[in-house]
Amino acid sequence: MSSSVGSLTRQSGTAAEQMTGPVAVAYAPSKTFLNAVTLQYARELSGTNILINAGCPGYVATDLNGFRGVRTPEQGAAIAIKLATLPDDGPTGRFFQDAGVVPW
Ligand SMILES: NC(=O)c1ccc[n+]([C@@H]2O[C@H](COP(=O)([O-])OP(=O)(O)OC[C@H]3O[C@@H](n4cnc5c(N)ncnc54)[C@H](OP(=O)(O)O)[C@@H]3O)[C@@H](O)[C@H]2O)c1
Repeated sequence: MSSSVGSLTRQSGTAAEQMTGPVAVAYAPSKTFLNAVTLQYARELSGTNILINAGCPGYVATDLNGFRGVRTPEQGAAIAIKLATLPDDGPTGRFFQDAGVVPW
């Protein structure tokens, strides 16, 4: 489970719509690292029946953010369920949120 704050593309965007969340010098890079690990596993396991993807739940009201998130836990869980139930020929080495692909 990653986060769009780990997206270097979004963090480095200059347009307001490309920015994501406050500056977080530990949390955001930890998700960038996780994204990089996701790609390495996806490469290692390409050609097998194991799919490796990263998912972002969106801004969910949980302990993590003092329940300030705007999505419910059920909405946040949807991406995990979607990725856990991909068809055998589904994508691998990608980063998704409900709305579609998140840029690395
Ligand atoms: N909430 C958001 O807006 C948001 C946005 C993007 C991504 N995410 C990601 O979604 C995931 C879940 O976040 P959340 O918002 O549900 O966070 P949370 O409310 O803080 O819950 C984190 C969960 O992880 C468990 N946990 C923490 N350290 C653990 C460890 N060392 N071993 C086993 N379990 C551990 C906690 O267990 P205990 O309760 O027992 O401590 C808790 O159940 C995280 O990876 C987060 O980065 C969240």
